[in-house]
Amino acid sequence: MASQKYFFYKGIFLNPLDDSNCEFLSEGLLVVKKGKIKNLLPYAKGLKKYSQEMTKSNTKDFGHALVMPGFFDMHFHWVQDDVREMPKDSLLEWLEKYTFPTEMKYAKAPYAEKKAKTFFKKLASTGTIGGACYSSIHENALHSAMTHAKGEFVIGNVLMNMNSPKELTQTNDASLKLTQKLIKKYGDRHCFTPRFAITTPPEVMSKGSEMADKAKCFKQTHLSETPAEIDFVLSIYKKIPGFEKVQSYTEIYEKSGMLGKRSLMGHGIHLSDKELKILHKTKTSIIHCPTSNAPIKDKGLGSGLFDFKKLEKAKVSWAMGSDIGGGPFLSMFDVMRSYVDQNKKKGVKGATFVKALYRSTLAGAEILGLSKHSGNFAKNKDANFIVVPLKASLKPKNAEDALKKLIDPFARSRQNYDSLVTHTCLKGTFIYKGK
Ligand code: GUN
Ligand code: FE
Repeated sequence: MASQKYFFYKGIFLNPLDDSNCEFLSEGLLVVKKGKIKNLLPYAKGLKKYSQEMTKSNTKDFGHALVMPGFFDMHFHWVQDDVREMPKDSLLEWLEKYTFPTEMKYAKAPYAEKKAKTFFKKLASTGTIGGACYSSIHENALHSAMTHAKGEFVIGNVLMNMNSPKELTQTNDASLKLTQKLIKKYGDRHCFTPRFAITTPPEVMSKGSEMADKAKCFKQTHLSETPAEIDFVLSIYKKIPGFEKVQSYTEIYEKSGMLGKRSLMGHGIHLSDKELKILHKTKTSIIHCPTSNAPIKDKGLGSGLFDFKKLEKAKVSWAMGSDIGGGPFLSMFDVMRSYVDQNKKKGVKGATFVKALYRSTLAGAEILGLSKHSGNFAKNKDANFIVVPLKASLKPKNAEDALKKLIDPFARSRQNYDSLVTHTCLKGTFIYKGK
């Protein structure tokens, strides 16, 4: 009867450990018991060790396929699925023209519910099993997202109280009351989410932050994405009492209580050394969204190249996100490709696929405080993995080579990344099984 308890999966395994190390098993066996990883070992060794337990019904050979941990997408807007591929000029224009009108539609509960059902199903099919997500301002849309998200996500309704279209403007009081209510209802799955300093005044950020900190909730917002945005922020805050002398975007968030070890700042492209020091000191994380920041010709917003080396030198923690719909595709494979490609084109060394995989899996789990049970194939973690077939003719030599062989061929047909995954497994249960 012992065999009933085990499941065995055979494939080519990639196990991200850190920025420069990823375990590679060209023929590996993953042993799962009660949804937990019991072992990952070379297939030949596994056969010897587990031959008594392995049966036809509890053993699955994925064939010539890569098996790796499910992704953590640490910054995406589920309500922007319909603007991903809309024309992009610059951040603030794109928000006004396409994004805000799209988010307004989520006021209608049946619409939001229908969209959430299909969006989160699609997200699971691309291999994303966790992360941090932005919803619209509407309570009902947040509820739909909380109901249909498959995996470990923190999700927040964006708070918009100023410099916003009237249909998306809430009073400060309404935003704070709703925050209190949602923290009570969802606990630490709720993520306190002022959209950015342009739309949310300091009193909402500081009072809401206090509530979030008390409940150990995460906090997320956008920071230093484009120069025009930074100029606008500083021009607004120069007129706000108490903020007249503030010198940087980061200081505004610091003064508003937004920074800390459970704070996720989207983008952070244009940061001074002084700002990096503040982020390090407060243990705030930056979420890098390469496909969103990419040049307009590559379907991004042209926000600039993120200097990961400068961040690492300043010891600021970071992970990767898609920023859907600033980013055009759901798949974290496209995000990884963009990171490697943009740095390569600029002659920046060290942006490897191995690093991109770590920053798209374990690094996200670490930031969310989930790495004890998720993020890679360490023993006793949850069996959270994805399966991605590789062309039979491709024989990978190591982890870097395997990811390159998988990702490079689709660089000119990027929508294909969204359908590369054939299985997504969460805690030992397949939440997606494709062809
Ligand atoms: N800054 C404020 N809102 C947004 C948004 O929806 N997307 C991006 N990329 N940046 C923002
Ligand atoms: Fe964003």
